[in-house]
Amino acid sequence: MDQKFTINSFGQRKAARRKIAMLTAYDYSTARLLDEAGIDVLLVGDSLGMVVQGNENTLPVTVDEMIYHAKAVKKGAKNAFILVDMPFLSYHVSVEEAVRNAGRIIKESDANAVKIEGGDKVLEAISAIIAAQIPVVGHLGLTPQSVHVFGGFKVQGKNSGQAQKIVDQAKRLEQAGVCAIVLECVPWELARVITDTLTIPTIGIGAGRYCDGQVLVINDMLGLSGDFAPKFVKRFADVGKMLKSAVGGYIREINDGDFPTEQHSFTSKND
Ligand code: KIV
Repeated sequence: MDQKFTINSFGQRKAARRKIAMLTAYDYSTARLLDEAGIDVLLVGDSLGMVVQGNENTLPVTVDEMIYHAKAVKKGAKNAFILVDMPFLSYHVSVEEAVRNAGRIIKESDANAVKIEGGDKVLEAISAIIAAQIPVVGHLGLTPQSVHVFGGFKVQGKNSGQAQKIVDQAKRLEQAGVCAIVLECVPWELARVITDTLTIPTIGIGAGRYCDGQVLVINDMLGLSGDFAPKFVKRFADVGKMLKSAVGGYIREINDGDFPTEQHSFTSKND
């Protein structure tokens, strides 16, 4: 029997030392396939700003766009937990605005939780959103919405001062009540310390094998993102190559008159 992944599953998985598998999804069809394949958590990531919209970073994405994609993903998923990124500037201006935007995302998309990038600077907003009965997942390390502050997409927490700061922020996020923390592009040794320190699960992306779960951008792991891939991406299939070959076949058969055949055509005869 299929098992629904709920908010309680995060803690249960950590206690049982069972890993959590998370992938991004941005549309109904992909969400349905990933759900049928047994994925635990579908993240409607603001990475859609890059892999769907073609922007250089995630900053242009709006709350309305997140809701649009989250609604489609939710319809495709029966068992997966639906997590939605709060986009840049949707939780920074004021706590009130943060709660309103998180509320809109959950109310309009029927998703299960929101994810928020950052530590101390957004702690008040995170606490207020949790107080409004909306589960929150934290996100530390390389937080892509801060790309201009970092000066690029760079590994974070490499020196001991930076690393300690990330550990401290993780502890405060846990105290604030987040149900899990995504750790992006941090040394595996640091991710291991955080994972061992917290009672909530860590979900790694470029954070090594000791996290309680892993997440990847679906386009990257399927080879749909072109030739460049960050070091932490493993390509589990080259769907990009398959897609090009299928489309090449389609074009050839149209030109050669091999498609469509009678099998794909309607007739006026009553048969
Ligand atoms: O937006 C996203 O896809 C993410 C993952 C990279 C964790 O936040």
